[in-house]
Formats: sequence, structure tokens, C-alpha cells
Amino acid sequence: MRRTRTSAAVIGIAALSLAACATGTTSDSADDTTTAASTETQEQMEGGAGGEVGVFTWWADGSEKVGLDAMVGVFNEQFPNDTFVNLAVAGGAGTNAKAKLASDLENGNPPDSFQGHAGAELTDYIVNSQVEPVNDVIEELGGSSVFPQDLLDRITVEGNIYSVPSNIHRSNVVWANPTVLEAAGVTETPGDMDAWLADMQKVKDSGVETPLSIGGTWTVVHLFENVLLADLGPEDYAGLFDGSTPWDSEGVQTAVDHMTQLLAFANNASSGDDWVAPTDMVIDGTAAYNVMGDWAVGQFNSRDQVDGEDYVYFPVPGTDGVFNFLADSFTLPVGAPNPEGSKDWLRTVGSVDGQQAFNLAKGSIPARTDVPSDDFPTYQQTAIESFANDTIASSIAHGAAVPLAWLDDISTATAKFYSSKDGTVYVTDLTAAADKALG
Ligand code: GAL
Repeated sequence: MRRTRTSAAVIGIAALSLAACATGTTSDSADDTTTAASTETQEQMEGGAGGEVGVFTWWADGSEKVGLDAMVGVFNEQFPNDTFVNLAVAGGAGTNAKAKLASDLENGNPPDSFQGHAGAELTDYIVNSQVEPVNDVIEELGGSSVFPQDLLDRITVEGNIYSVPSNIHRSNVVWANPTVLEAAGVTETPGDMDAWLADMQKVKDSGVETPLSIGGTWTVVHLFENVLLADLGPEDYAGLFDGSTPWDSEGVQTAVDHMTQLLAFANNASSGDDWVAPTDMVIDGTAAYNVMGDWAVGQFNSRDQVDGEDYVYFPVPGTDGVFNFLADSFTLPVGAPNPEGSKDWLRTVGSVDGQQAFNLAKGSIPARTDVPSDDFPTYQQTAIESFANDTIASSIAHGAAVPLAWLDDISTATAKFYSSKDGTVYVTDLTAAADKALG
């Protein structure tokens, strides 16, 4: 298995976590796993700590809420004494939620648990002393015998593990409407950006005004990270986050040039638009393609779309063999009103039953490696296979590669580029953002 770690912060975390292994923070012995299982059973037998458990996410509606509700269903069964309180704030990728969370944390008003991305984003919360270690819960759940060590490394600092991962999503997926492609005479999967752009022209010539659908700023960042990955390759892409690949290098300029061409094939979006409408454009045939994380599966399901008939998917052209990774995880905030209830929630998030119910609905794959995969539909089977065999890259738009402040600067630069289409200024802004972040 080839893995590429892409953030300076994450490299630091990985190195530190080796110390954790040496001091026995992680466990892979059968004995430990047995202890874990019985402790978990004990907690569940007691029915949970009791009281309200306020959980903050951005899975507020649509198919994302369906996923959360599935997890809550398991929580209610496992911990009947506890009362789940849904503190979700709508807005894909946490665009609105993250600002609200930041002010709640700043004002000493934390929820009992909040959603955070494994990697650089979680590191922010750790460095700012906003989250508590949850080594005990991870140990109970089975530690590194059930969670991939690479994933644990991304949530570990100085031997302490700070969240419980719920799922793994893939960012570099093109979702396409096969009927539209057939009508345009597009019969093969494009191998690179230029071939893909040529196909977009064919689709446009067939009468579809907007071959590519996009939403607001975060979806443009999402598209851009995958164009960068395609044009730089996983190694140079990884170098963007530790300073070894300059943001004004030729590869980045090529990616920006490809972005300009791609956006010329896309619909006009407002900065706050979300991801569901662009997915619907593919479903409705007003676009042929959309680049989105595999939470899109939830939307295809909710519109009764059949995999392989109504929609098809392939890695963003030029990224075949690479899995652009992000993972959601849940925390125990410092000052949580009901810390024991929070730990009950974390136990459900990290349990086999919780992960199975949640991921089946969400389109992601379980973070645990021991959740039976046979029940998962075709798309998720391909993602499980790719995650095991592909080179792993880290998503920019979803907290894996860069901390929150750097992502904010990249988003501001991207919004500006989206309105001006000035690639030279975009490269200058991106380079300034990297200089600021990396010092
Ligand atoms: C990501 C998150 C996913 C999904 C997506 C769209 O940041 O990790 O689980 O919610 O945003 O909202």
C-alpha cells in the first residue's frame, strides 16, 4: 500500500505518535481488544451516563441528516439513559457551522461533542487546548487493532488521541450522467484534464449549456484541490503543504489554467451555494459532470438513482490510483457540559453498529476496519478497495491538509479568482497564503 502524507502539521503528528506506540498508547493485542469489548458492554449495560448530550455537526438536512439520524438511532439503543440534542448548523463543508463553533468555543459555551476533520483541522483545536484526549475511549473501542494506524496518527499529538473517527470520505470523484454522455458521443473515461475538457466541449456541442456543475466557494476549492492533484501528482501535491512545492510553480499554474477552462464550462454560482443543487443538475441532466465528495451518494440514493444506470463515477481525470482523503471525527471539548454523556456518544460513533448504520446512509466508508463490508453497495465497495490500495492524498477543502486559517485564505483567494478569472492574481494570492501559513 502506498500512502502519501500531505501536511507539515500531520507529518509532525505522525512523528509524535510513534512515541505513543512505543509507550503502549495503541494496542493490537487480542487481550486488549477483549478488555475493550467488555468495557464497552459494561457501559451499554448501564444504559449511559444520563442527561442531555448536545452534538454539533453541519449534517442538518437532506441526506447528511439521514446519516446522522442513523447514528443517533444506534446511540439511543446503546445508551437509553442519554438524550441526544441535535445542535447541527446547516451548510455543506461546515461553511456556517465552523464560524458558530469557533465563537461558541471562544465564549466558553462548548457542545458535548463536535464534528472535526482528522488532520490539520483537528490539530488546530488541539493546539488551542479546545479538546480533551480520548485515549481511554479509543482503547475501549479496540485501538489500532480496529482503526488504521495512519488515521490514528492524524488525530494524535504527543501520544494523546483527540477524537473518534466516524468515517472516511473520498474527495476526488467525478459524478456523471451516462445518458447525457451517450447523447454527446462520449464513450470513454477521460485520462487527463485535457481529454476531459475535450469531452466537455462535446457535451456542450450536444446542447448542454453547462457540462460541469458547481456550487459556491467551497465547492470551487473542492474542485481546485483535485485539479491540483491531477496536475501535480500526489508527491508534489503533498509538497504544497510543507513548502517543498512552491505555490507559484509551473504545476500550480497549469492547474489554475485548467480551472479557468473548466469554469468556462460551468454554471454561474453564488458564493454561498451548496453541493446538493449541483448534484441535482447531474441527476436532472442539466449538467454532465460534478466533482464532489462521496457524500453525493446520499443524494443519489435520496433521489432513487440507480448506480451504473442513472449515474456513473470515476476518479477526477489524472488522479486514478490516488484516494484524496478526508475523515470526520468527533471530539470531547474542554468544558463540555456532560463529559460522560459525550463519551457515550463517542462510544457509539466508534462502534461497529454506529459506523455501519451511519456510513451506509452517508456514502462514506467506515473508519473501523472490522465493519462487515458485504452490506455496502457497489460505490462504497470500490471506495473500500481504493482506500486500501491507492496512494492517499489529503483534502484541502475538508481539513485534512491545511489548518482552518490557511483554508480561509485559500477560500478568499478562490472566491476572488471565481469572480475575476485572473489566474495570475490567484497564484499570487495562493503563494501569499502559503507564505503566511508556513512562515
Ligand atoms: C465535509 C464533511 C462531510 C460532508 C461534507 C459536505 O466537510 O467531512 O462529511 O458533510 O462536508 O457537507
